[in-house]
Amino acid sequence: MSTIESVLNETRVFPPKEEFARKANISSIQAYLTLCAEAELDYQGFWAKQAREQILWHKPFTQVLDDRTPPFYQWFADGVLNVSYNCLDRHLATQADKVAIIFESDDGEVIQSTYRDLHQRVCQLANALKSRNVKKGDRVIIYMPMRIEAVVAMQACARIGAIHSVVFGGFSAKSLHERIVDAGAIAVITADEQVRGGKHNPLKATVDEVMNMNDVASVKCVVVYRHTGADIPFNPTRDVWWHEITQNASTHCEPEWVNAEHPLFTLYTSGSTGKPKGVQHSSAGYLLGTKVSMQWIFDYKPADVFWCTADIGWITGHSYVTYGPLAMGATQVIFEGIPTYPNAGRFWEIIQKHKVTTFYTAPTAIRSLIKLGADLPAQYDLSSLRLLGSVGEPINPEAWMWFYEKVGQSRCPIVDTWWQTETGCHMIAPTPGAVALKPGSCTFPLPGIFAAIVDEAGCDVENGKGGFLVIKKPFPSQIRTLWGDPVRFKKTYFPENTGSGKYYLAGDSAYRDKDGYFWIMGRVDDVLNVSGHRLGTMEIESALVAHTLVAEAAVVGKPHEIKGEVVIAFVVLKGQFPHGEEVTEIIHTLREWVAKEIGPIAKPEEIRFGENLPKTRSGKIMRRLLRTLAKGEEITQDISTLENPAILEQLKHPSK
Ligand code: WTA
Repeated sequence: MSTIESVLNETRVFPPKEEFARKANISSIQAYLTLCAEAELDYQGFWAKQAREQILWHKPFTQVLDDRTPPFYQWFADGVLNVSYNCLDRHLATQADKVAIIFESDDGEVIQSTYRDLHQRVCQLANALKSRNVKKGDRVIIYMPMRIEAVVAMQACARIGAIHSVVFGGFSAKSLHERIVDAGAIAVITADEQVRGGKHNPLKATVDEVMNMNDVASVKCVVVYRHTGADIPFNPTRDVWWHEITQNASTHCEPEWVNAEHPLFTLYTSGSTGKPKGVQHSSAGYLLGTKVSMQWIFDYKPADVFWCTADIGWITGHSYVTYGPLAMGATQVIFEGIPTYPNAGRFWEIIQKHKVTTFYTAPTAIRSLIKLGADLPAQYDLSSLRLLGSVGEPINPEAWMWFYEKVGQSRCPIVDTWWQTETGCHMIAPTPGAVALKPGSCTFPLPGIFAAIVDEAGCDVENGKGGFLVIKKPFPSQIRTLWGDPVRFKKTYFPENTGSGKYYLAGDSAYRDKDGYFWIMGRVDDVLNVSGHRLGTMEIESALVAHTLVAEAAVVGKPHEIKGEVVIAFVVLKGQFPHGEEVTEIIHTLREWVAKEIGPIAKPEEIRFGENLPKTRSGKIMRRLLRTLAKGEEITQDISTLENPAILEQLKHPSK
């Protein structure tokens, strides 16, 4: 019982279009395989070469990988650099007037910032922070709306060697408090309010609430960016206005040169239990990962208009808003609002208006846009698009097909990128000019990334069998430790049983098909065990979503005396919420559908309907809550990171 069974049978294949491949950075499968072979032959040499080419070093490195104390790996350790210098200053001589950011506010106002402008703003804030005594190695919490200033705040920290820790603006006082205390932050950068979907969220008031709690004496300064101009309380000994401290600050700020391993940031990610983990990233290795993936996976071209919809509160917003695109000198869109405001055409309108070429979003957004307006993309001119991307969850093949046909007009490849907060950049994803796509598969690892699927003992499983996704060799962009908790770091990611503590354990289940393609099946904690068959959640969910009535689905196991577990499905329908006899009918239809699509083994014992599913604020389905509901138990877990708590009530009882 050490492997996980795969039941999904997806056979569609989309080879790269010649037109795309011809211009691609990696333009054939041979080119991709050559890079992989180079890395295989001498992977330290491979990464050293990349690091020399991609990063501007203040002092070059002489050491590549230091693996004397696994899993505490160091890369390029004696090299010296500054990440903000690599993102901004390096472009001043060649393209100071290129637009770095096209910002669109919630209500549609557009503001552009060039590399010159962005550099000046970053220097001014960096100087202002320095004058407030923020120094190299200090931790700064950033609790900001998704605006240009959020990026400026992160870059300013990087410039002075302060370690930022961004907290998503939707998080509550409790979550913010927990992170401030764990980080021992000395400053908080926030705004009076955040505006999303027309709703105002009082960020500063939440910070004030936290400042009245225990254990926050470390915070000496709260910088407040005036966004809406809302009336807010102001504590003159602690609070300062962003515009006041920056207006007379110099637009020159010598970067703080730091060692390659100097922590660039920590970002908290909630584990399934226990307190959030402060994932710590390095400077050079992390920067390198974001840069190579911009080129290999996003096939970055100087003329691109890049748009990653992720908030800076998530790793995706770090790697593919604040760091990767700027390090490449790209023009990118930053959007303050939500995809459904003022209507479900907002994303398509933004793509049309700013002529976006590369569009990177999450399956949860795609599924909700299908539910709210599957035909809407046709009303916009999306001809500027050349590449689409997906991240955050397995993308169900049906959602993939819709994205491909309706948004990409069957012209744009989709890069389904598997990675994690802990990996810093893409790990498994198609190089789009080289790899034929299969809907729902993240395809192959990046060159230099040694991903594999193993059983509980750490032995490779054969293709077709599911198991634990691991990365066998260290890579530059990987997590360095958990802030203040190296023991938990080692135990969580490098457990002894898989690869004698040498493999990075991702915590996801996956399998490779006969062609070697990787398919992610879900989190290991979510695996079901039905009559001795271990099944990932993703495949059953995809079968449900493939039915025309279904917009979204989540499945969990419920203990069963004979079968071990049975499948319980939570389903959001595309149309009206069902009532009466309709419910029985739809349940019957869907059960038979799953039996036919996958096999009777996966047939849900019970189906419950909801208007939505419980999700984290980054849009991931919280299956552990659904497991509790399926068992008929009361929810006692912490639900403070839940986006929509009211939905739990609706899903409590079997639908009738
Ligand atoms: C899931 C987001 C399937 C996976 C960058 C992973 C995915 C977790 C994909 C990390 C994908 C992310 N296909 N699953 N393309 N991308 N995941 O830390 O379970 O927010 O372990 O990082 O999301 O989520 P995180």
